[in-house]
Amino acid sequence: MTIKPLVLLPDPVLRQKSDPVERVDDEVRALADDLLETMYDAPGIGLAAIQTGIPRRLLVIDCSKEDEDKAPMVFINPAIVESSDERSVYEEGCLSIPDYYAEVERPAEVTVDYVDRDGKAQQITAEGLLATCLQHEIDHLNGVLFIDHISKLKRDMVVRKFTKLAKSRNLERL
Ligand code: NI
Repeated sequence: MTIKPLVLLPDPVLRQKSDPVERVDDEVRALADDLLETMYDAPGIGLAAIQTGIPRRLLVIDCSKEDEDKAPMVFINPAIVESSDERSVYEEGCLSIPDYYAEVERPAEVTVDYVDRDGKAQQITAEGLLATCLQHEIDHLNGVLFIDHISKLKRDMVVRKFTKLAKSRNLERL
C-alpha cells in the first residue's frame, strides 16, 4: 500500500468529473487500499480518488469514532438514488482544503447505490455523519467541493487564501 500525495485547492484537477469504474479488479482494489491508507495517514474520514489525481468514481470512508474499531468502507460508482427532505448541518472540512472548516446544510438521509470491492451491487441508506460524508465525497466525483455549498463571499476568500499558499509553495521549490 502507498500513501499518495493529495491534490489541493485550487488545483483544477479537483474540478474534473471522474469516470465510472468499468471493472472491479485487483488494480481497483489496490487503489482502494491506497486511498484508505492515505486517508488514515492524513488523517481524514473520507477521500475520493480524484483527490489523489485519479479521475475514477471510487471513494473511501471511515466514520467510526476514535474509541471504536476502524470501519473502512469502499464505494465504487456511488450514486445517490434518494435524499430526505429533512436537512442537517455539519461542520465540514476536506483533505484538499486543509485547516478550513465551514457549516454545510445537506439532506439528513440519503440512499446510495454502489458497487463494493468484490464487484457486487449494493445499496446503503445512511443518516448522520455518514450521510454527510457520502454526499461530500460523491460531490468530489462530480468536481464539486464543499465550499461550493457556502456563500460566494466565504468561498472567494478561501480560494484566494489557497491560491496564495500554492504560489508560495511553488516559490519554495525553486
Ligand atoms: Ni473533501
